[in-house]
Amino acid sequence: MQAGLVQRAFEVEDRLTFRQDYFSDLTAFEALAALLQEMFGIDIRSALGLAGLDKTTMPFGYFDTDGRCVANFSVFSVPLMVEGRRVIAAAYQSGAVRPEYRGQGLYRDLMRRAFTHARTTGHEADILMTHKPGLYEPYGLRQVRLFGFRGPAPASHPQTASGRKISIDNEGDVALIAGMLDRREPVSRRFAVRGMKEFFLLNALWQKDETTLTHLPGLDAVIAWKAAEGRLVICDIVAPAMPALSEICAGLGGGFSEVETRFSPDLLQWLQAHPVADPHIYLMVSAALTKQLSMAPVGFTPLAEF
Ligand SMILES: CC(C)(COP(=O)(O)OP(=O)(O)OC[C@H]1O[C@@H](n2cnc3c(N)ncnc32)[C@H](O)[C@@H]1OP(=O)(O)O)[C@@H](O)C(=O)NCCC(=O)NCCS
Repeated sequence: MQAGLVQRAFEVEDRLTFRQDYFSDLTAFEALAALLQEMFGIDIRSALGLAGLDKTTMPFGYFDTDGRCVANFSVFSVPLMVEGRRVIAAAYQSGAVRPEYRGQGLYRDLMRRAFTHARTTGHEADILMTHKPGLYEPYGLRQVRLFGFRGPAPASHPQTASGRKISIDNEGDVALIAGMLDRREPVSRRFAVRGMKEFFLLNALWQKDETTLTHLPGLDAVIAWKAAEGRLVICDIVAPAMPALSEICAGLGGGFSEVETRFSPDLLQWLQAHPVADPHIYLMVSAALTKQLSMAPVGFTPLAEF
């Protein structure tokens, strides 16, 4: 680093307080919520009315003398299923710096702290989602292309009872989904998250205008889905054992000509799917995972986005 930059970094840090693991301080949490609302237009306080915040989250942030959070980068633990193997990865989110503090190394400092924390707490891999992959390449993260999986709908299973539409705005329905998330099987053995209850519920709330949740009691499953031009798009399935796609189609009312899953459909007894590129966001992972996830196409459920 050049001498001038070192000087500037010291000046910034003089006026700022570094804090980590600060969520027990509600005022500091609110300050982060305000930063993320302004930067990304999202309200993380909504999580408090659902299952709360993910308990493993470790935020790293800088606060100014007025208590404003001016920069943040958080890390949390995400249990994954990769090629049938359980992997505990460190995932990163809530990364932002207020415009007037950018270009002074604050984010670099926070990234380094979070990556070091992930290593010292025994995470074997890293994963994040971003629109700015160049930010994380210097730290060894690499892009993995994501896919949806499309194919003709299977004939509906005649004995499947139809489901009930449920709502993320209904307390009883939230309790039902939360209970099912506690005992869910990963939606794919190829690549999927295990658990991540808090993220599923928050994403369900944020995506409620475009995604329908249907409880299929006969299959002991909740399906997150949407329909477009006769095509059924299955975003996620919460179930202790994956039902067959033909049963799901019947439970959702049938009549679909084509199906797309946003995750690898290896557990759905559906052999006719082909991958279609899903370019809407970059998944980035550390070296060992890059190799495994690049061997064949993978998807990632929007209900686990972070
Ligand atoms: C992206 C952002 C966090 C960078 O913050 P910052 O404090 O200006 O970053 P720093 O000064 O610490 O720079 C850190 C490094 O990232 C690089 N960098 C900064 N912005 C970048 C971008 N948009 N793309 C790629 N690299 C970038 C810098 O060149 C620097 O590299 P170096 O360590 O090799 O010198 C900030 O611009 C921001 O909040 N943007 C809006 C929200 C956002 O996009 N967040 C990231 C979500 S994944």
